[in-house]
Amino acid sequence: MSNLISPYGGQLVDLIVPPDHYQAVSSYAKTLVKIVLSEREQCDLELLAVGGFSPLRGFMNQADYQAVVEHLTLADRKTVFPLPVTLSLPDDRHVAVGQDVALCDRRNEILAVMRVDDVFSWEFGRDVKALFGTTDTRHPLVSEMMGWSPRFIGGTLQVLRLPTHHDFVDLRHTPAQTRALLDQIGARKVVAFQTRNPLHRAHEELTKRASEQIGGVLLLQPVVGMTKAGDVDHYTRVRAYKALVDNYYPADKVLLSLLPLAMRMGGPREALLHMIIRRNYGASHFIVGRDHAGPGNDRHGQPFYGAYEAQNLALRHAPDIGVDVIPFKQMVYLPDQDCYQEADRVPEGVRTLNLSGTQVRDDYLAQGKPLPVWFTRPEVARILADSYPPRHKQGVCIWFTGLSGAGKSTTAEILSVLLLEYGRDATILDGDVVRQHLSKGLTFSREDRDENIQRIGYVAAEIVRHGGIAICAAISPYQSTRDSVRRMVVSRSGDLNFVEVFVDTPLSVCEQRDTKGMYAKARAGEIKQFTGIDDPYETPINPEMILDTVNHRAEENASRIVDYLRQHGFLA
Ligand code: ADX
Ligand code: MG
Repeated sequence: MSNLISPYGGQLVDLIVPPDHYQAVSSYAKTLVKIVLSEREQCDLELLAVGGFSPLRGFMNQADYQAVVEHLTLADRKTVFPLPVTLSLPDDRHVAVGQDVALCDRRNEILAVMRVDDVFSWEFGRDVKALFGTTDTRHPLVSEMMGWSPRFIGGTLQVLRLPTHHDFVDLRHTPAQTRALLDQIGARKVVAFQTRNPLHRAHEELTKRASEQIGGVLLLQPVVGMTKAGDVDHYTRVRAYKALVDNYYPADKVLLSLLPLAMRMGGPREALLHMIIRRNYGASHFIVGRDHAGPGNDRHGQPFYGAYEAQNLALRHAPDIGVDVIPFKQMVYLPDQDCYQEADRVPEGVRTLNLSGTQVRDDYLAQGKPLPVWFTRPEVARILADSYPPRHKQGVCIWFTGLSGAGKSTTAEILSVLLLEYGRDATILDGDVVRQHLSKGLTFSREDRDENIQRIGYVAAEIVRHGGIAICAAISPYQSTRDSVRRMVVSRSGDLNFVEVFVDTPLSVCEQRDTKGMYAKARAGEIKQFTGIDDPYETPINPEMILDTVNHRAEENASRIVDYLRQHGFLA
């Protein structure tokens, strides 16, 4: 083990069942009641198993949980521990104290055996207020915990298998492995850096200053478990970290290692948790800058925590935890000096520059504008640009809805040709055509109609996710079904990537046109459940566009949609 002895004097916890017990524990586990872990619980299990949460040996019991909530310590009232590590007992399950349960991943594969030593209730309002200083559901953890079951089970673990990861396997290390790697490069002092974001020049600056200051090695340990919704995905980030480490850090002064932590976005309390984890991974120092682990703004647009609240708490508890804090004020760029400096050291009247995450996304990436070199290394800028293409290279779904004969298919055909003028080749998913292949055999019952629409929506969402244009033309008479396909598309792409177009042709006009002779048959009772005749059409509540086919030709309507797409940046 490492020569970095922490003042807390604790050993690294290792909950993995040794090989000679594996068979016995594994057979026994199959006889037990199973509990399926959430994504967060699975991340927590991994850190518990490898000792990332040392001295914890399992999910918390009530005594530890209460002490953590009220005193930021374990039940001994001495060992600093700032945030709960809990396991929810599903509402419909009953387990008894003393019982063993098998903990599984979502495919029901057994990961661990837990001896239940406590089953206890927690109190949402009181506990989240104490932990996060708020009950505002804009706080991501408050909102998540609102959906948790009211009871936790605590107990020690015997871990059979760690959750499997297939990505960046060579960058994943246990605390023991990390310490060994640090020893190998001769690191006596190690400063860890926590991040859930791409690293820009400002971060490079503070990590380099920190490692120079202590004369040691940088442990660059980005979180790849769960971060905040909307963050840059970890695949993109890790590609960028690798490019940065390979090109801009001396090889013997940096170790890149991925941390499968599920963040709580708990600001000050979370900073302490990060320090405990990094101590366990072998760090002697830890960087805390501005707004560490900040969850963003509350419902009044105010930040949940002060910019340096986390830093101050971290400094206060550093001696108890056994890691020194290296604090930084906000790093800003001085264009006239072409250098970075902490904001409090910038002389009066000197110009500074900075870009927020929102600016990076909206003012640069979305518009295909390269990030400035003062802000980001070009290698990193290119990786971000690949993952976040400008809007004219993003996919979009144009969803036509309206009565049979309203003019959906005609407008869709013309639109697809006009898009070719812009070099964008769309896929048309026409309800009638889809029924001849993808949805062959489906009837016109409500269930089958919904099924048809869901299938079109699924394909459209995949097309859009891969950067294509999907033009869907189906009656899609039910609002709830249209909403559900919208969700499918936007959840994989973005809010702007779904354009609902209501082709608002009155029934009387459709019936008069009766291009396919369907209305006549429906009136004669030869076709049942025909939309508008004996099945409802629910008028769209909030479509992006409404087309009038009575006073405007299909060509005009199609070019209105082209205008809309141009205005929103989808056509260059
Ligand atoms: S966090 O949620 O993991 O804290 P982020 O990856 O943005 O988010 O921050 C990582 C660390 O860098 C934190 O310690 C944070 O305080 C610090 N940090 C980020 N940006 C700056 C900056 N411009 N100036 C100073 N510190 C910063
Ligand atoms: Mg049609």
